[in-house]
Amino acid sequence: MDRPPVPLFDIRLSGAETASVEAALRSGWLTMGPRTDRFAAAFAQHLGARHAVALSTGTAALHLAYLAAGVGPGDEVIVPAITFVATASAVRYCGATPVFADVVGQDDLGIDPAHVAALVGPRTKAVTVVHYGGYAGPIEKIAALCDERGLALIEDAAHSPSANPTSGGAKLGTWGLAGAFSFFSNKVLGCGEGGLLATDDDDVARLARSLRSHAMTSGTWDRHRGHAPGYDVVGLGYNYRLDELRAALLDARLPGLEADIAARRALVRRYREMLRDVPGLTLPYRDEDVDHSSCYVMPTMVADAGVRAPLRALLRARGVQTSVLYPAIHEFSAYRRPRQPPLPRSERAARTQLTLPLYPHLSHSDQDRVVAAVEDGLAQLAGVTRQPGARQAVPA
Ligand SMILES: Cc1ncc(COP(=O)(O)O)c(C=O)c1O
Repeated sequence: MDRPPVPLFDIRLSGAETASVEAALRSGWLTMGPRTDRFAAAFAQHLGARHAVALSTGTAALHLAYLAAGVGPGDEVIVPAITFVATASAVRYCGATPVFADVVGQDDLGIDPAHVAALVGPRTKAVTVVHYGGYAGPIEKIAALCDERGLALIEDAAHSPSANPTSGGAKLGTWGLAGAFSFFSNKVLGCGEGGLLATDDDDVARLARSLRSHAMTSGTWDRHRGHAPGYDVVGLGYNYRLDELRAALLDARLPGLEADIAARRALVRRYREMLRDVPGLTLPYRDEDVDHSSCYVMPTMVADAGVRAPLRALLRARGVQTSVLYPAIHEFSAYRRPRQPPLPRSERAARTQLTLPLYPHLSHSDQDRVVAAVEDGLAQLAGVTRQPGARQAVPA
């Protein structure tokens, strides 16, 4: 009998979580209101941030973070080439130009601080650190550089709720002018579509709160409660509001976040144990980094870029879904520039990265199945026969 496939990610909601959404539905108030405020306050406390502004998406959070940093036409923002395109597209929403920095390499998919330093120029306004996969980027080094050069530090913390730098210290997303979080379905804390901007800066929080709702001086919930008779519009804002259904789901899921991350870490340690000596594959980051990561995904790197597509096909045939995090942004049609210098480490990562299934309730038997399929696939593509029952490919 065919077994069901092992998906890349999976969501399993508890009764309390669906009940929270049902209560929001029954409350009769669906747009941004008290549940949104409650979730934002709980998230701020969890994070140790002064302010958390709940938003419709992580992309909206990045956009508002860049606007708060004063990014506008003619400015440049340095971002890593290996990240989801939103990190860069939100720069373009402001009329500014994303400048792509290389990543560290096959062992670390974070932005390379030395390359960032070399890219800073007169038009640079901000630098964005993405905490790839939940693993801290070089936040201390980039924070020092930004201080020295008078630049805004923005954190794309879409992958990293409740993660810390490897050296410990404040949670990721609280190190710069603003941290942008995503609650997209497949994220560590997911609700479908949602986001949040965290900041310790009162002015940034005020601006984000205003711009998320068309820069109106009062919201519908305030007017509904009779707290404000009307409103003025004091700027060019957006509709970046989170609604009550999603906020209710997030509010109910937040207390389980640490347990989810602990389950993810345990699975990542198990993956690393089983995959560490597989020929043709390497694992980015170090074992000890897992302890500080939110373990959003299980990243691996194939040694031979030519093997990745056939390996993914073999895995698919055995019911194992995989993904690539990420293609390099400067190689997308909409981002290609004639004078773009090569970014060799990002380009290699974009051709060799392979992301394996990971979610808190991934069973050990499904995980074993993923590992066996990877081992068999790599052995087959290398022309090596794997001994039945052996966990590792045997070199010819
Ligand atoms: C690194 C990164 N930045 C930004 C985003 C954008 O978040 P959202 O999909 O919530 O707009 C995502 C997620 O999709 C992401 O992975």
